[in-house]
Amino acid sequence: MNNKLFAVVPAAGIGARMQADRPKQYLSLGGQTILEHTLERLLAFSFIECIALPIANHDAFFDGFYISHHEKIHTCAGGSERFESVLNGLNYLLENGAKVTDWVMVHDAARPCITQADLIHLYQSRSEQGSILGVQVRDTMKRTDEQGNVISTVEREQLWHALTPQLAPIGVLKTCIDECVAKGKLVTDEASALEFCGLQPKMVAGHPSNIKVTRPDDLMMAQAFIKEFQ
Ligand code: CTP
Ligand code: MG
Repeated sequence: MNNKLFAVVPAAGIGARMQADRPKQYLSLGGQTILEHTLERLLAFSFIECIALPIANHDAFFDGFYISHHEKIHTCAGGSERFESVLNGLNYLLENGAKVTDWVMVHDAARPCITQADLIHLYQSRSEQGSILGVQVRDTMKRTDEQGNVISTVEREQLWHALTPQLAPIGVLKTCIDECVAKGKLVTDEASALEFCGLQPKMVAGHPSNIKVTRPDDLMMAQAFIKEFQ
């Protein structure tokens, strides 16, 4: 089948946990913003036909970058939750020539250290039920009660941190997110929507450098990883 590959990069968050003077995707990492790094790395993966980029309505930053005018990057409206931004991106693609059978990679703007090797592995592992990048849990895992007392050790053998990109056929993903919205199910990532609808996305082991810049300390780590791993 001759299905194309598209990307949605949700970039409409405010980065509250980062406590910076601007949304975290616009913080600088070695001379350019987190969002520019993320987009450059996706653009370097030449299978991607085009990137839908949901940004906030009041976004005052994006237009100022050279990459804003790249022919493969198209902004659309963000939503008030991540899944709403993703849905807007999917709808944008479908309204602009993508087919429901085409593939979409959804990748957080806040993960600038994604490597080409991970993009290749994920794309090679594409499945009708979806596939996602993850990193296997290393530490011993504990469950606590609400007071912070350890009550049990959680088996870590088949436990993973879910990362992005997450890859699925556009139509399958959209149908599953719509179903979650209709039934009031919280959509934390794309795979959670697929799982809710009875699908079993494939887990693809990714590189641990693919962190989501979330809190101030993460900037230092991302700075080191971005230089080290392409
Ligand atoms: N995102 C989005 N639309 C939203 C919320 C989040 O497009 N309404 C995007 C963010 O820009 C980010 C990705 O989803 O690239 C992952 O979300 P997260 O790390 O939670 O970012 P923020 O929501 O911006 O951060 P915080 O939760 O600390 O406010
Ligand atoms: Mg958030």
